[in-house]
Amino acid sequence: MEKNEKNILMVFNWKMNPGRLSEAETIASEMKKGIVKYSKTQVVLCPPFVHLAPVAKKIAKSRVLLGGQNVAWTEKESLTGEISPAQLTDLDVKYCIVGHSERRAYGETNIVIAQKLYGLLKRNIIPILCVGESVRDEKGEYLKVIEAELRESLTGITKNFVEKIVIAYEPIWAIGKNSVRTARAEEIEEIAIVIRRTISDMYGFKKVPQNSILYGGSVGNPKDVETAIVGGGMNGCLVGRASLSAKTALPLVEAANRLAR
Ligand code: PGA
Repeated sequence: MEKNEKNILMVFNWKMNPGRLSEAETIASEMKKGIVKYSKTQVVLCPPFVHLAPVAKKIAKSRVLLGGQNVAWTEKESLTGEISPAQLTDLDVKYCIVGHSERRAYGETNIVIAQKLYGLLKRNIIPILCVGESVRDEKGEYLKVIEAELRESLTGITKNFVEKIVIAYEPIWAIGKNSVRTARAEEIEEIAIVIRRTISDMYGFKKVPQNSILYGGSVGNPKDVETAIVGGGMNGCLVGRASLSAKTALPLVEAANRLAR
């Protein structure tokens, strides 16, 4: 596959926002209306769990899809406060973020992440697996960090399922309010190569693995989308802060759509 050959995927991670349901409904309605003309881009909204059902209603009968931000690692135990893959399926959730650095920071391990990937795939929900280094050191240790995260997180995932997983490259130093800067095109492209090579290696693929790869970390304007997709060879972006209003999110979709083949 040539890179960028597929439609572009723009995933909007609202995190613990917005504060009120009415605001969530407003963003969802505006996104539904605004994306109509951007037919080559798949938009996925990932609201907090409590807003999934009302947001689902707002985006019904549109091309906007629903995503979760997390999921339990099993469906079998009594787990206070957790949400299972089956429960997400009932809400028509099609994608689910797994292993975001903000969750890894609270102790989520690659092995738990692997169990989550497995549980989601079994329920036909596409996992969006986040990987990313906290620092870019000069010796290139960060490449080993990405590779190790990927290898361990894919434990137990078989060859016929692995290419369904979307991988999001999210350098921790580029995420959120404290971000140093956005990643440069060549930095993003380097990781895309490492991700594809690692998967190829692990599974003995003779062709380039078909996984969609996204870039996330301070994507805030159309230029950032262009950097990720054109220079970085990404299949789309995972966006946090700029996804919290249609006014900032729609120009990103517009840019992605312009670049989609
Ligand atoms: P940001 O967050 O766009 O606000 O940097 C990205 C993310 O955490 O996925």
